[in-house]
Amino acid sequence: MSTLKLTNLSKRFGGVVASDDVNLSVPAGEIIGLIGPNGAGKTTIVNMITGMLPVSGGQIHVGDADITHAPAHEISRAGLARTFQNIRLLGEATVLENVMIGFHRHETSSTLAALLSLPAASSETASLRERTLALLAEFDLQDFADYPASGLSYGHQRKVEMARAMAAEPDFVLLDEPIAGMNDVESDALAEIFQRLAANGKGVLLIEHNVRFVAKMCSYIYVLDGGRLISEGTPDDVLKDPAVISAYLGDQHHA
Ligand SMILES: Nc1ncnc2c1ncn2[C@@H]1O[C@H](COP(=O)(O)OP(=O)(O)O)[C@@H](O)[C@H]1O
Ligand SMILES: [Mg+2]
Repeated sequence: MSTLKLTNLSKRFGGVVASDDVNLSVPAGEIIGLIGPNGAGKTTIVNMITGMLPVSGGQIHVGDADITHAPAHEISRAGLARTFQNIRLLGEATVLENVMIGFHRHETSSTLAALLSLPAASSETASLRERTLALLAEFDLQDFADYPASGLSYGHQRKVEMARAMAAEPDFVLLDEPIAGMNDVESDALAEIFQRLAANGKGVLLIEHNVRFVAKMCSYIYVLDGGRLISEGTPDDVLKDPAVISAYLGDQHHA
C-alpha cells in the first residue's frame, strides 16, 4: 500500500506564490479532502502532481518513487489520474469513445487515434469495447454508450470524465471540484462512487468547495488559503478551527 506524498511543494507565478511549502499525504484506500477559498492554490497543486506545471520547489513521491520532475505520461504510468475542474470531454465523440481513451495510459494520443480508426471488427477493438462497456456499467452509464458526450446532462458528463480517469486503473485519483454545479441526487451518486474507489484501495484526493460534502466523505482534510496550509486534521477538528472559519467568511465577503 503506497502513499502519494507532497513535501514542501511550492509554485510561484512571477510574484504570486500559488503554493507555499505544502506538505500533504494521500494514503491508499482513503479519501483525503483539500479545501480552501477560490484562488487558494488547489488546482495548482493538482497541476503540479500530474506534471502539467513544473514545480518551483519541493518533492512529489508515489511510494518510494520521486515523480517531482517526471513528464505527464510517466506520472500517469506511475498510477495517477485526475479529473478537471472544467469538464474536458470530446463533445462530438461518443461516451464510449471518450472513456475508451482512458485505457491508453501506456500509449500516446497518436496511437490512440490509430486505435479509434481501426476496423470495428478487429479483435483488439472488440475487447477494448467490452472493457469500456463494463466500466460504463459501473458508473451506470451503459445506456448512453453511443450518445455524443455533449448531449448528456452535466452530472452525467462528470461521470463520463470519472469513468475515463478510472479506465487507466490508477492507484490515486485527483478530483478537482467533481460535484460543483450538481444537484443532490447527482452528488450522492458520485459520493457512492468515491467511497467504492477508496474501498477498492485507491487513494482519492477530493478538492471541493462544498465543505459539508467534504466533511462527510473524508477521513482527513487539508485547508489551503493563499497557497499555504492553514489547517489540517479530521473533519470535526478542521471545521471548528477559527482559522478555517475566518478564511471561509472572508471568501464570502469577497464573493
Ligand atoms: N498558469 C497560471 N499563471 C499565473 N497564475 C496562475 C496560474 N494558475 C493559477 N494561477 C494563480 O495561482 C493562484 C491559485 O490558483 P488556483 O490553483 O487555480 O486556485 P484554486 O484552484 O484554489 O481556486 C491564483 O492566484 C491564480 O490566479
Ligand atoms: Mg481550482
